[in-house]
Amino acid sequence: MTRPTPIQFEEARTDDLAQLAGRVAIFASEDGKIGPDGRKLNSLTRKAVERMIDSDRFERMKPGEVVEIAVPGGMQAEAVLIVKLPRRASVEDGRKAGAALAAARGKGALHVLCAGVRAPEEVALGLVLKSYTFTKWKSAPDAGPDGSVTFRVKDVEEAQAAFAPLSAIAEGVYFTRDLVNEPANVLTTTEFAKQLKGLEALGLTVEVLEEDQLEKMGMGSLLCVGQGSASPSKVVVMQWKGGKKDDAPFAFVGKGVVFDTGGISLKPAAGMEDMTMDMGGAGVVAGVMKTLALRKAKANVVGLVGLVENMPSGTATRPGDVVTSMKGDTIEVINTDAEGRLVLADVLWYAQERFKPRGMINLATLTGAMIIALGHENAGVFSNSDDLAGDLIKAAGAEGEGAWRLPMGPAYDKLIDSNIADIKNTGGRPAGSITAAQFLRRFVKDETPWCHIDIAGVASLKSASTLAPKGATGWGVMTLNRLIADTCEG
Ligand code: BES
Ligand code: MN
Ligand code: ZN
Repeated sequence: MTRPTPIQFEEARTDDLAQLAGRVAIFASEDGKIGPDGRKLNSLTRKAVERMIDSDRFERMKPGEVVEIAVPGGMQAEAVLIVKLPRRASVEDGRKAGAALAAARGKGALHVLCAGVRAPEEVALGLVLKSYTFTKWKSAPDAGPDGSVTFRVKDVEEAQAAFAPLSAIAEGVYFTRDLVNEPANVLTTTEFAKQLKGLEALGLTVEVLEEDQLEKMGMGSLLCVGQGSASPSKVVVMQWKGGKKDDAPFAFVGKGVVFDTGGISLKPAAGMEDMTMDMGGAGVVAGVMKTLALRKAKANVVGLVGLVENMPSGTATRPGDVVTSMKGDTIEVINTDAEGRLVLADVLWYAQERFKPRGMINLATLTGAMIIALGHENAGVFSNSDDLAGDLIKAAGAEGEGAWRLPMGPAYDKLIDSNIADIKNTGGRPAGSITAAQFLRRFVKDETPWCHIDIAGVASLKSASTLAPKGATGWGVMTLNRLIADTCEG
């Protein structure tokens, strides 16, 4: 498990700034205003700070960017870092600044002088998120920073209290990223379930439903996906009961295909290794449940994940097979590579039958077509409820996670009509992401406000993003955590 960078908070003081080792960061507003810390460094460095702030370089910097004054005279520090941060900085600006500090941090200690900053905890979260690395499988990993990170603030207790729920977010995002980055020979369905069982230590109730139980409940749709694999299919149910005893829970449902070869409808070799992230939806559900438990959210939330491996073999499902879902609807499997919707169909139905949730959101790396539509900047949102979709997109906006709603409608249903069963699992190339959403909607009751989020384009990236190195992003943990805070608590 990758551990989040520890952050210390200390009371601001200016008497020892000349002696600080490592790097010292200060903040300047867009018009070049600095606080008492900055003015002290300015005098220690014989106005190097002021000259930097008056420079073109500073002028051209965007909010949240950092410029370095290396080996400053008059100080023991190896560098002074000047962070440009508007006085009325948004949450996103603050996190961006933290991420920039993570990149400029160097090997030794980092002192962040933020007595004048409105929300230092957001800067700290950005720093922690951007500092994530997945080095578990490197026998000689690059030595990362070994110095401490200290935030000097006006009020230590206040800063610590403000950072506590954000630290819970960082833990959740790290958990999601570790799960998504882990290769499929290690993160098997069994290992995944074991990791989730480990969340019980935080006060969650975790049940692992095994194949025989799933069979008894009639989950023929989910089970047909894993039947070619040596790894047993499982459904894991995680409950957080932080709300009133009788309040209906909110439900999160995740696609957990630990590896997607396509099955008998085998994918091409090139790029198939990326399908180790096809459990990304389940990874986000796991991460947000961890965050909610760590910050003791005052809400009832249940997280359900369908864990399967999609492999070709003599026992695998064939194109043309017909399976019966838990709901009772029959499905003609046209393409065994459209497996995510088969998994979700049964878990969505089970979630509603058992929990009667007040709302339900599923996350899945569901379609390549999503990447064609929105690229890697936005997840696709599909919904039967303008209210829930609105709340979700608002929460994503506040967290700086891209989310864009796409249309649904009964007219698309004719694309997934089957000749011999109630429905088929693919609708061809046109509107591939929408027909997948229409398929899922067959397994959502009209009275359940529901959103499907297709995270195929955002769960894992080939290059670094603002708050993450390349690889798993943890997209969605922050958004769903905020959605619960905004709509289910208080
Ligand atoms: N897991 C894939 C979707 C995917 C593709 C996720 C690329 C992330 C990156 C999904 O199971 C799949 O294979 N979908 C097919 C559906 C098709 C057969 C209707 C696809 O998108 O090609
Ligand atoms: Mn597939
Ligand atoms: Zn898949």
